[in-house]
Amino acid sequence: MKKILIPFFILFVSCTPAEVTELTSGEEIYTSRCSACHGSDFSGRVGPSLNMDSKAAQMPDSYWVQTITKGMGSMPAQRLSDNEVILVINFIKGQY
Ligand code: HEC
Repeated sequence: MKKILIPFFILFVSCTPAEVTELTSGEEIYTSRCSACHGSDFSGRVGPSLNMDSKAAQMPDSYWVQTITKGMGSMPAQRLSDNEVILVINFIKGQY
């Protein structure tokens, strides 16, 4: 019985899509999901700067949540859990 179940278990684990895994730190989320467009130093690339002098820095968290989860203009909505959204906002604002 065990000999049959183990390969199925391995198959199941290896097929689990990456999005299902919760990213655990705001920094990890930023690096993997935001930095390509907003720059690893927050100074902006395709997307606008998110550093302490930016317009975004003056905006309330609700604006950030809305932008991240719904997208804005050419920024696509990011598929992140509520918790991940909070982590990444706290990470960015924690740099100010
Ligand atoms: C595919 C590129 C791309 C990715 C990935 C991306 N953004 Fe953006 N982001 C943009 C663009 C482009 C804009 C400007 C949209 C506009 O003004 O029409 C923007 C706008 C924003 C704004 C509003 C800035 C302002 O000045 O009002 C915030 C906040 C923001 N992004 C945060 C994030 C966060 C946090 C992540 C990661 C979870 C992220 N973005 C991922 C491209 C991206």
